[in-house]
Parts: sequence; structure tokens; C-alpha cells
Amino acid sequence: MFVSDFLAVDHQGHLTIEGADTVALAQQYGTPLYVMSEGQVRESCRRFTSAMRDCYGENSLVIYASKALNCKEMCRIIRSEGLGLDVVSGGELYTAMAADFPAERIFFHGNNKTPSELQYALECGVGTIVVDNMTELELLDSLAAAGSKVQEIMLRIKPGVEAHTHQYVMTGSIDSKFGFALENGEAFEAARFAQKCKNLKLRGLHCHIGSQIFEIEPFCETARIMLRFMLRLKEELGLKIDKLNLGGGFGIPYIPEHDPRQPVEFLRQVSAVVHEQCEQLGLELPMMLIEPGRSIAATAGITLYTVGAVKEIQGVRTYVSVDGGMPDNPRYALYGSEYTAIIANRAKAPADFKATIAGKCCESGDLLAENIYIQKPVPGDLLAVLATGAYNYSMASNYNRIPRPAMVMVRDGSSREIIRRESYEDLVRNDI
Ligand code: LLP
Repeated sequence: MFVSDFLAVDHQGHLTIEGADTVALAQQYGTPLYVMSEGQVRESCRRFTSAMRDCYGENSLVIYASKALNCKEMCRIIRSEGLGLDVVSGGELYTAMAADFPAERIFFHGNNKTPSELQYALECGVGTIVVDNMTELELLDSLAAAGSKVQEIMLRIKPGVEAHTHQYVMTGSIDSKFGFALENGEAFEAARFAQKCKNLKLRGLHCHIGSQIFEIEPFCETARIMLRFMLRLKEELGLKIDKLNLGGGFGIPYIPEHDPRQPVEFLRQVSAVVHEQCEQLGLELPMMLIEPGRSIAATAGITLYTVGAVKEIQGVRTYVSVDGGMPDNPRYALYGSEYTAIIANRAKAPADFKATIAGKCCESGDLLAENIYIQKPVPGDLLAVLATGAYNYSMASNYNRIPRPAMVMVRDGSSREIIRRESYEDLVRNDI
């Protein structure tokens, strides 16, 4: 299947994920159910790590952006694959620490880290804090001083590059809440200030231009801009920056028309640009870092739902309602994101039925997909939505007091629960 080599259809016409029958998984664990393929997660990690080594060399690191899917088991898998970890809140950091992720390989991002989050990061011994703004720079320096620490930092830079993606996930231009702008001198002033901070060690520059990007050129352009800025810091401030983090944002195939580049293609081109540009500018090659999130987790995951009401409105459309919806996957409601879905218990039947997949919330916008083609559904069928491994569980809510689904990890045909299904009791746990 186009989304993942770990998806197939067996002789009974059942969708399988890494050798596990989705119909059996639904019976065993109930629906809605998030299912992840461990093999696919590991393969995606390896595609990035080996491409990085082959194209750029050993002086590099692939960091998993855990906002895509953060839970203890994902942190353990990422650790065992040798990647770094990007966290963006105290909660993501706590999860990583609870999974014994090595703190020195953690990068702490965020545009408004609170004093207590920064203090917690210092106590954990987080390797790198990616500083977003002047308030944070001053605060972190004083917290590090109080703790008698010297904290390694990177500065988050807005390179001024526009990538072709959804407005809500564009982050590289001056009109963004993230980071220091280059155009107005902010980034230069931040570096000058950081240089004077006794308890901070400025080692790198970071940028992230957006998410679900298919083109390679915006990343190349970003690399050129960042390296020119590095040269300026070297010449005007005598600052030696030896790490360049180009962020994440690599697109994945949600629908057959999506045709993302392979990590090796992307890294070959970007590495060539970094090599060329460093040579031209007389810069030493920096350590190169990238931060894929979606492209590690998304295609490894599917969500299984049970079909309930099938409401055909003559001359309008057919709503196929499932037992989940925007609480477990808000991406269609938020961004109009497209998905591919399959009736998992009859996956060999022709997908010739035009359906709008609706959730169970009291909200008309609670849709998972509109006007897509699936096998003709009947109540009780199992519907699989593909490529839900990233930004689904991590963005899930309890809207309408709907408990979050369980998550199961499949490895070579056998499954294990890695996140328990929430109970009604869980929902009132913090109610007083
Ligand atoms: N690094 C930084 C600093 C980021 O902000 C992000 C994503 C990443 C790396 C990873 O980007 P990825 O490789 O996953 O595209 N909720 C949205 C996506 C928001 C992305 C936020 N930052 C969605 O569901 O499409």
C-alpha cells in the first residue's frame, strides 16, 4: 500500500499492519484504536540516520520531534535508534525522562518556556536549550547562574523563507511567533547578548520553516541564509558557531497524489549546499542537525474505528459516522487535512462508495474526511484511517468528555498496548 510497506491485505480481505490482522486487533483492544507499526517507525528512523551519515558525514544528528507522537514507548524506540529528541514542553520532557531518555541528547524548544520549565530542564541536564526570545535568554542565564551551571544553547532564527504549506504550520517568515528575525537585526543582537552571558554557551543556530513541505529548495535556501548569518557572527563578533539545525517539516503521503522526496534525496541536496556554501564563505563545516517528526511517526500509524450510522442524504452526500472523530484526530477540522480510509474488514472490495466520514461529537465540523472513496460501508464495519501516527494522539482532546483511545504497537505480527484507553474514571480524576 502506498502509505507504508508495513500495510497489506490478507487472504480474508482484512487490512494488516506489520503482519497483524486489524480485525483481530479491534476485537482484542476495542475501537477507536491507534495502531503503530514499530517496524515502520524504526525504518523511518534508519532512513534518516543512514542518509544523514552517507550524505553529510558523521558530524551530524537526526533528532525526532516528539510533538508528533510523544509517549514513553516512542521515546524508548527513538533512544534505541540513536536519535536525539526534541521536546517542546515540561510535559514532553517529563515523558522523555520517565522513559530514561539521555538528557544530553534532548533539545528543548518552545516560544514561551515558563521559568519552571526552564528550571526543570536545567535540573534534568537537558543538552541543548533552543532559545526563542530575549526574555528567555535573560531568564535562562540567571537561572543557570543560580544553579552554577553553564547551559549550552542554540538560537531559534526566522530565516525569512516561505515554504509552500498550510498557513497554520508556516514558521519561517518574519510574521511568526517563533524565534529571532534576521531582517530587523534581532537575531544579531540576540547573539551579541548571548555571547556576554556567562552561564550560557552559544553553540548553534536553529530554524524550522514549516511542516508537510514537499519541495527541497526552501531548505537549501534556508541553509544558505543561515550560513551567511554564521559568517557574519564570526566576522563581526568573533563567534564560532559549530552547529546548524535545519529543523523538520518533511512531507508525507496522506493521499496517493502526495509524492514526498526520500530522506536521501533531500539530504543529498541540502548537504551539497552546506558543503558548497561553507567552502565559498571560508567556514568550517558545522555539525548538521535535522528534526523530523511527522516523517518518523505518521505513516507508521493507523486509526481503527467502528462504523455506526450510515446516513445517505439523497442528492447531498452520505455521512458515515464512526465511534471517534475530532477528539482523537482534530486535523481535518483544523487544517482540512486529507486522509485515505479503508473498510478494513473488506479491504479487497472496490473502493467505489463516496463517503464523508463523520465523528461522534456534537459539532458539524467534526469530520475526518469529505467525499472520499471507500468500500461500501455498513454499520459494524471497521474503518481504518491511514497515516495517523503523527499529530493525532499528540493533539487529542477529551471534547464531549470522550475518553482518548488506547494505542497499540505492533512488531512482527504481535501487538502490545503502549497507551491504555482512558476510562470514564480518568475523565473525572481531576474534577473536585
Ligand atoms: N522542529 C520544530 C522546531 C518544530 O516546530 C516542528 C514542528 C518540527 C521540528 C517537526 O516538524 P515535522 O517534521 O513534524 O513537520 N500540528 C501540525 C503540525 C505542527 C508542526 C509543529 N512543529 C499538523 O498536524 O500538521
